[in-house]
Amino acid sequence: MHKQLLGALLLALLLTILGCANPKPHYIIGVSQCSADIWREKQNAELRMGAYFHDNVELKFAAAYDSDERQVEQIDSLLNDGIDLLIVAPNQVQTISPAIDRAYDKGIPVIVFERKTSSQKYTAFISADNYEMGRVMGEYIVSRLHGQGTVLEIKGLEGSSPAIERHNGFMDAIKDVPGIKVVGSLQGDWTEETAYETTQQWLANNKDVRVDLVFGANDRTAMGARKSLTSARGGGGGTLYCGIDGLPGENGGIQLVRDSLLDASYIYPTHGDQIIELAVNILEGKPYEKETMLMSALVTSDNAKVLQMQGEELMRQADRLDQLHEKADSYLHKLDIQHVVNWMSMGVILLLVVTIVLFYLYHLRNLKLQQERVVSTLWNMEIEPAPVADETKEHTADSSADEKPSVVAESAFLARFREVVEARMEDSEVSVDDLAAEMSLSRVQLYRKIKTITGSSPVELLRSTRLKRAYQMLLTTDKSVSEDKSVSEVAYAVGFTAPSYFSKCFKEEYGMVPGDVRK
Ligand code: FRU
Repeated sequence: MHKQLLGALLLALLLTILGCANPKPHYIIGVSQCSADIWREKQNAELRMGAYFHDNVELKFAAAYDSDERQVEQIDSLLNDGIDLLIVAPNQVQTISPAIDRAYDKGIPVIVFERKTSSQKYTAFISADNYEMGRVMGEYIVSRLHGQGTVLEIKGLEGSSPAIERHNGFMDAIKDVPGIKVVGSLQGDWTEETAYETTQQWLANNKDVRVDLVFGANDRTAMGARKSLTSARGGGGGTLYCGIDGLPGENGGIQLVRDSLLDASYIYPTHGDQIIELAVNILEGKPYEKETMLMSALVTSDNAKVLQMQGEELMRQADRLDQLHEKADSYLHKLDIQHVVNWMSMGVILLLVVTIVLFYLYHLRNLKLQQERVVSTLWNMEIEPAPVADETKEHTADSSADEKPSVVAESAFLARFREVVEARMEDSEVSVDDLAAEMSLSRVQLYRKIKTITGSSPVELLRSTRLKRAYQMLLTTDKSVSEDKSVSEVAYAVGFTAPSYFSKCFKEEYGMVPGDVRK
């Protein structure tokens, strides 16, 4: 009974723990950014926002600050940390590919975004079309200059795919327009500082070359050239500036176009939340697009105002969402604490219940042992014959089902039964019916009562009394009489009809054969 009860308690505990376990797997997504600038900041914020919608997604960010070496190291360290998926914008096409291959070969899904790798080892690619951007910007420039003018190009980082593709697109757009002359194609690296310096050098070497328009591979580059030109030539001399990125918000490309600092830009979409959705689909084994081309658009003075307003509104909403998330986070944190407290109180209650049950079982066992001890004492001690009045009382009490006989009543009853047994045991013919009749009870009543008090049946008690008497007799019978004979005599004398059966019972009771007693 103890074991069953404990088993049930443990099972209940186990089921409760299992029932509360969260079956959703926890995903760690590594994000390897080649750079750190306002475009990447916006994207990282969107990635975080996307992850808010999945409570089992954790992001680990790394920014390589335009260094190939650092990015390779960071990817390897993300892999060592045990990420489940890698999102990567490779700084240059060739240099980062081996690290990306290592991730892919390890069985980790890889999403390459925005910049390309030379390897085919990636799970999905997501970006806007950089060649198309360069081409459309080229066409815009042609029309803006009415097919006639000089252009200074500041390229993006050498070896990075958007730089190559934007340049190619631009060159293809102007190649058949003889009036458009590229007076310089300078190597930039996406940063404003480098654009400023390289432009300054070029201007120093090309003092008399007129620049009608600067095409920067991104807005920051275009602005660097602008600063350089305005400081070198004072006022800029009517030069127009075009870039790419078209970010919303303070000092973003859209605002720069609206404020006429840039003539045009091109929205280079960040779409971090979309990248997270793609990642989760891959991780959950759901269908996904291997190559995703993001929509993009030209920003000019015609639409800059509207785009800026829309962008600001979107950013405001994103900010609200962020605040909401923080609120939800702190609420969930509170709930978590509550949860722990609940678990703890449940644990304490469970411990209490187990203690009480164990205590109860221990107590029950002690009580049983005590009872057994009392019964055996009662049966074995020399008892005065019980007064008749008690016997009657006992009999009456027995007929009432609810009433529990006291220990005194029980001992008196036992004493009386022992008397009857001792008086009748020599009679081998005596039956339980006879004994019951002597106790003024039916056979069944006697059986129940004796069994309840002693745990043994009347027959068992009769037999053990006979054996006890036999033992006494064996100790005292004449030793000159042959051993077999005396054992048989004793067996008959205490009411056994077969000496062999007597010997068997004797051995069971005392662990030795009757002959041994005499020896
Ligand atoms: C941001 C950035 C953008 C540019 C893109 C090219 O890090 O430099 O300004 O459009 O990367 O990959």
